[in-house]
This record gives sequence, C-alpha cells and structure tokens, in this order.
Amino acid sequence: MEKKIAILGSTGSIGTNALRVIESLGPEYQVFALSAHSNIELLAQQAKKYKPDFIAVTNPRFAQELHDLIGDLDVEILSGPEGLVQIAQLDDIDIVLAAVVGSAGLPALLAAAEKGKKLAIANKEPLVIAGQLLLEKTKKNGGSIIPVDSEHSAVFQAMQSGKHEEVHKIILTASGGPFRKFSLEDIENATLEQALVHPVWDMGPKITIDSATMMNKAFEVIEARWLFDMPSEKLDVLIHPESIIHSLVEFVDGSIIAQMGVPDMCLPIQYALTYPNRVPGISRRLRLEEVGSLTFHKPNMEIFRALRLGFEVARIGGTTAVVFNAANEAAVEEFMAGRIKFVNIVELIEYCLNKHSNKNNVSLEELLETDIWARKQVKKYLQSGNKSII
Ligand SMILES: NC(=O)c1ccc[n+]([C@@H]2O[C@H](COP(=O)([O-])OP(=O)(O)OC[C@H]3O[C@@H](n4cnc5c(N)ncnc54)[C@H](OP(=O)(O)O)[C@@H]3O)[C@@H](O)[C@H]2O)c1
Repeated sequence: MEKKIAILGSTGSIGTNALRVIESLGPEYQVFALSAHSNIELLAQQAKKYKPDFIAVTNPRFAQELHDLIGDLDVEILSGPEGLVQIAQLDDIDIVLAAVVGSAGLPALLAAAEKGKKLAIANKEPLVIAGQLLLEKTKKNGGSIIPVDSEHSAVFQAMQSGKHEEVHKIILTASGGPFRKFSLEDIENATLEQALVHPVWDMGPKITIDSATMMNKAFEVIEARWLFDMPSEKLDVLIHPESIIHSLVEFVDGSIIAQMGVPDMCLPIQYALTYPNRVPGISRRLRLEEVGSLTFHKPNMEIFRALRLGFEVARIGGTTAVVFNAANEAAVEEFMAGRIKFVNIVELIEYCLNKHSNKNNVSLEELLETDIWARKQVKKYLQSGNKSII
C-alpha cells in the first residue's frame, strides 16, 4: 500500500536526510507535502525533484519569492504558520514527519494528532512542552507516535522485549557533546565555534548547541517521560562517547536490551517510516570489530547543570517544562547572535525557572502564554543590564 508523507521542516538536517531515505525506499513511499521556514531556494529545488502536491513556507515574507521560484510547477503553495497546520491535516497524508526546530512545530503536530495521523517525531521541543497533551490527543483520535530521535527510537525498539510494567529503568545514552572533557573553567570561555562542532552527530545548529549544554539530553529525559509513560525516577543517562548504543532498557529481571547502530539519523528515520516492518536501508552497517570497545560513565551534573534541571523538570511537568524550553530557545538565540556567553544560557534558564510558579493540567492557550512569558523574562533580564550575565 502506498504511503503519503508530509515532511514538516524538509530543508533541515532531519528533513534532508528523510528525503534521501524516502527516495531509497522506492515508489511505495511518496513525498506528498514539504515545508521550510525561509530557505525557499532549497524548498523549490526539493519541490522540483520530489513533485509534492503541497509545499509551505512558514515565514510569509518569502511566499511571493517562492511562487516566483516555483514557476508553473503543479504544486499548491501555502504560507505562514497556518500553512504548516494545513499540511499536517491533509486527508491524503498517512505519515507526518515532524522535523521543524523548536516549539514552532507544536500547533501542526497537535493538528495532525487531532486527525489521527501516524506521527514520526524528531521535533523534540513540542514533546517537552506539551507531551501529555500530544499523547492524549493521539490516543483519543486513533493515531500513533513513532519516535525519530535516535535515543527514543532505541528505547521504542528495546521496549518490545518486555511489558511496560516489567521495565526497571530506561537508560538514555549521550555522546557528551563537544564539551565532554571540558572543566568548569574551560566552559566559562567556550565559544560559539566550539559549541557548533559536535564530535559525532552532524545536526542543525540549535540542537548542536543544546548538545553542548546537555540541554538536549535534559529534553530527551522529559521526552522519554511522556513517550514511554515513565516517572523520572526510572530514567537515567549514561555518557557513551562512541555513540554506538543509542539507548537501553533494563527490565526487572536484570536483562538490559540495547539498540546499536552507526550514528546516522537515516536509520531511526527509516524505522519510523516503515514501522512495524524493517527493510534494507542506506545507512552504513555497524561492524563491531571495527568499533573495538564501548565505554560508559556517569555524567557530571555539577558541570552540566542543565541535565540536573531536566530530571527535576521531568518530575514537575506542567508549565515548568514550557519555561525550561522557551528560556532555552531564547537564550540559544542570544548566544548565536553573540550577545551572551555560553555559560549564560543555563543561568538564564535557571533565572526564569526560579521566577515561575508551576501549573499542571493547563490548556494549550496557557502553555503558549507561558512560552511568551518566559521569552520576555529572558529579554527583560538582558535589557536590565544585569552584570552577572554577559
Ligand atoms: N539533526 C538531528 O540529527 C536531530 C536528531 C534528533 C532530533 N532532532 C530534532 O529534530 C528537529 C529538527 O532538527 P534539525 O537539526 O533538522 O534542525 P535544522 O537543521 O535547523 O532544520 C530545522 C527545520 O525547521 C524549519 N524551521 C525553522 N524555524 C521554523 C519555524 N519558526 N517554523 C517552522 N519551521 C521552521 C527550517 O526551515 P529553514 O531551513 O527554511 O530555516 C528547517 O526546515 C529539532 O527539534 C531537533 O531537536 C534533530
């Protein structure tokens, strides 16, 4: 049976890999809709190559230019954030692959869940801020969620070895990011260039910086809390610099099931698209004899305070997770623009969390209001010229 796919964020790192995977899977898998935010040149190239029925540019300023680039190609062009929501809800679509960066992907994911779609989710921020809501909506409307994040894909696969109540612990592995061997003093002087070079994974800039602070792992702890319905006490993180084991599930009898593979996002992307089937793919095969040894150690939560916060936020949930994410998005933007230092990212997040009073079981509107509130706190704090920052 033919499968029609929408890729939300087709011009990014996950999006472009997803297109390679779909191309390799053959005619059964069809690119039905694509979206970009501002990279309309690449979006137009993708439209010409993959011939989708719909494309969307979420930044409306680029809509006219996109029309000009597309010319007389037979494709419907949508624009603005609502264009992304429209795409996610199209009746013909079987699978929505969420590969947008940041919380901007949330409305479209909720819309797709409302329609009972199969959701292949790489875009972690919506799961962090509204995991409970998204899971409830998906279940209520007969949809499903297959994680694309390599760690959660690994856990999803390992979980199939036992029952939910037989899980003792979920162990998420982490490469440790570019600053794994840095001291507190080194981190104090870390530059944007250093933060943008990941030792293992080739990813978009935001997630690469999140890996350097270990916010990315903190997000993954929160994601796992919702995706696998596990309390934070049953979640753990281990540094595994080789990034061969993508995560593990320990069962009550002491058995630990690990999923291994080369560090290549094409593998979890393909698994999410073809699940429950497995087919040959384009990822290089893992040769364990070439890897030699695998090492593991506990993360240093004194240096990587973001990770400690992540466990705390996973325990509290509610609007605290929204503040955690929004303050990080705003702070990372400031860091990328050269207005704050690397260490200030986590300081700003802690500042916002300390000012916030948590609320549980809130509506989407309240979640979005909290998101705006947290971003404003970051701006205000920086405008106040507080000397402990910068
Ligand atoms: N990259 C990885 O290996 C990896 C692994 C696991 C999870 N993830 C998660 O997957 C998501 C995508 O990561 P990525 O590395 O692929 O990011 P990326 O390379 O920065 O690509 C982001 C995509 O989102 C679009 N976009 C940017 N801002 C947007 C907005 N405001 N509204 C709608 N679309 C917007 C971009 O369009 P333009 O190109 O036009 O800007 C692009 O298509 C993130 O949530 C990340 O945490 C990524």
